[in-house]
Amino acid sequence: MKRSAIFLEVLLIVALICGDSWAITEHLHCKRTRKIVSRPHSVTITEFGAVGDGVTLNTKAFQNAIFYLHSFADKGGAQLFVPAGRWLTGSFSLISHLTLSLDQDAVIIGSTSSSDWPIIEPLPSYGRGRELPGGRHQSLINGSNLTDVIITGGNGTVDGQGGVWWEWFNNHTLNYTRPHLVELINSTGVVISNLTFVNSPFWAIHPVYCSEVLIHDVTVLAPLDSPNTDGIDPDSSSNVCIEDCYISTGDDVIVIKSGWDEYGITFAHPSTNISISRITGQTRSGAGIALGSEMSGGISDIQVVNMHLFNSKHGIRIKTSPGRGGYVKNIHISGVIMEDVDIAIRIQGSYGEHPDDNFDPNALPLISRITIKDIVGTNISLAGLLEGIPGDNFSSICMSNIIFTGTSSSSSSSSLSSSSPAWKCSDIEGYSDMVSPESCEQLHKDIPEDPSKVCYGLYDSLQQEKHYDSELMASKPDQLAPE
Ligand SMILES: *[C@@H]1O[C@H](CO)[C@@H](O)[C@H](O)[C@H]1NC(C)=O
Ligand SMILES: *[C@@H]1O[C@H](CO)[C@@H](O)[C@H](O)[C@H]1NC(C)=O
Ligand SMILES: *[C@@H]1O[C@H](CO)[C@@H](O)[C@H](O)[C@H]1NC(C)=O
Ligand SMILES: *[C@@H]1O[C@H](CO)[C@@H](O)[C@H](O)[C@H]1NC(C)=O
Ligand SMILES: *[C@@H]1O[C@H](CO)[C@@H](O)[C@H](O)[C@H]1NC(C)=O
Ligand SMILES: *[C@@H]1O[C@H](CO)[C@@H](O)[C@H](O)[C@H]1NC(C)=O
Ligand SMILES: *[C@@H]1O[C@H](CO)[C@@H](O)[C@H](O)[C@H]1NC(C)=O
Ligand SMILES: *[C@@H]1O[C@H](CO)[C@@H](O)[C@H](O)[C@H]1NC(C)=O
Ligand SMILES: *[C@@H]1O[C@H](CO)[C@@H](O)[C@H](O)[C@H]1NC(C)=O
Ligand SMILES: *[C@@H]1O[C@H](CO)[C@@H](O)[C@H](O)[C@H]1NC(C)=O
Repeated sequence: MKRSAIFLEVLLIVALICGDSWAITEHLHCKRTRKIVSRPHSVTITEFGAVGDGVTLNTKAFQNAIFYLHSFADKGGAQLFVPAGRWLTGSFSLISHLTLSLDQDAVIIGSTSSSDWPIIEPLPSYGRGRELPGGRHQSLINGSNLTDVIITGGNGTVDGQGGVWWEWFNNHTLNYTRPHLVELINSTGVVISNLTFVNSPFWAIHPVYCSEVLIHDVTVLAPLDSPNTDGIDPDSSSNVCIEDCYISTGDDVIVIKSGWDEYGITFAHPSTNISISRITGQTRSGAGIALGSEMSGGISDIQVVNMHLFNSKHGIRIKTSPGRGGYVKNIHISGVIMEDVDIAIRIQGSYGEHPDDNFDPNALPLISRITIKDIVGTNISLAGLLEGIPGDNFSSICMSNIIFTGTSSSSSSSSLSSSSPAWKCSDIEGYSDMVSPESCEQLHKDIPEDPSKVCYGLYDSLQQEKHYDSELMASKPDQLAPE
């Protein structure tokens, strides 16, 4: 027993140290978007009358500055600089070829008056606000139909002052769906980097109907008990790259979506080609990486590598329901370390939550080719809760090289013993190989001869996998399992 505990510790340390070398191959779209753009023209928000005292409302100054910068859009674009100070504002909108750049000590602060966040149309793929029927509050920083937008800074801060919105939510006095901190709609060539986002009223960063999006070196913080404060939500978006972020929030750390029931099915705009790497975080009610529950436009070709999750409700989670339609397929998640996580892997076919009564209960989602490999979890309560939909098996669910241990029980004779967390499965089909404790019988114990046909990318030549295979998984799980 002692030997196995030490093995596990060594394994964790090796995995942590080697973290940086894991993602040596970046997806093409990650590289392509990562180019330094310098703007030939720059203005400072104070030139437009803004006052950084934390009290003066600067919405007009932001709007006027950005309106003025319109004339530079066809001349290489322009930068709006926000210097040190506390800049209170309501919602404002960006333009194409703009860099919004914050000083390290700049804080953009969202107004606590709901009227400073105007009501806008619901998204066509949702048919209504996510929380309430009808419109929704516009995000603090909004952009629509844009190309080439950069939101960055030397780790400056965007503070949504979400506390008041959480109270309105909790005491049922909201009239419309809560706003995000940043929402970019139908935009291409977006970079969000080197910033800290705190206390979002709702989801923090929401790129929807976007492509070529790069989000890196971003910190997202909200209290662990704040309602629905997701970190980053790529939605009906393609060619998205999220790297090197620290996210500690009340709901999902990163969650990929693509529209809701009949509205999402009709709008038919998938999320695809998304690459996520080097993410650290925690969430008390959500998951480290989630897919859905809104997935009606389809979610495919997602790669997640090198995550470190701690103190969380779920590690990896797929959420869907009859009525959603759509699909979640070709998902590859690898190199995840989990510590103190309730349910390490959850696939849920009965999530519920419908926009209205017009959804088609026969619109069943297709969930297939989900590969989860090279995962180490300690103090896990439940290894896997994998539930498809009766009559709609979720298929090609493939697990490889996974080690979960339970809570150490100090009451037993040896202080190093730990319980084995269980797997519970229904209406799923797939394979598992080197999984400890052994997974459920629905996942056949041997990977098929030609895994590439059924298990997405399981033994394909994704370069970075080979790299950490040798280090992270030097020992087989059966050598590590409690004796
Ligand atoms: C968001 O910003 C754009 C400019 O980027 C503006 O035209 C639009 O009215 C704003 N609101 C919405 C809902 O897009
Ligand atoms: C997105 O923007 C492009 C132009 O930038 C426009 O042609 C297209 O209709 C827009 N789509 C939506 C859904 O607004
Ligand atoms: C975006 O482009 C579409 C199509 O041109 C247009 O219908 C829509 O009003 C535009 N949205 C905004 C906010 O300008
Ligand atoms: C963003 O942060 C990363 C990591 O701290 C750093 O390497 C990079 O230079 C920063 N970029 C800017 C533009 O501040
Ligand atoms: C950015 O600021 C946040 C919040 O203060 C801090 O936790 C984080 O370490 C900072 N990141 C960098 C790269 O300095
Ligand atoms: C709900 O919360 C808001 C914000 O704190 C507060 O102003 C309001 O009085 C509360 N309403 C009720 C009915 O509790
Ligand atoms: C909801 O509407 C009521 C009545 O117009 C208003 O008094 C209240 O402030 C609104 N609540 C929010 C959070 O905007
Ligand atoms: C996804 O990436 C592949 C390979 O880079 C590319 O061929 C395909 O066009 C991309 N899909 C979309 C929707 O951009
Ligand atoms: C195990 O994780 C839970 C959270 O899931 C935490 O409350 C508990 O303190 C952890 N136990 C140990 C022994 O670390
Ligand atoms: C669904 O999967 C189970 C194994 O979990 C299998 O026994 C059953 O035959 C499958 N049902 C269909 C309709 O394929």
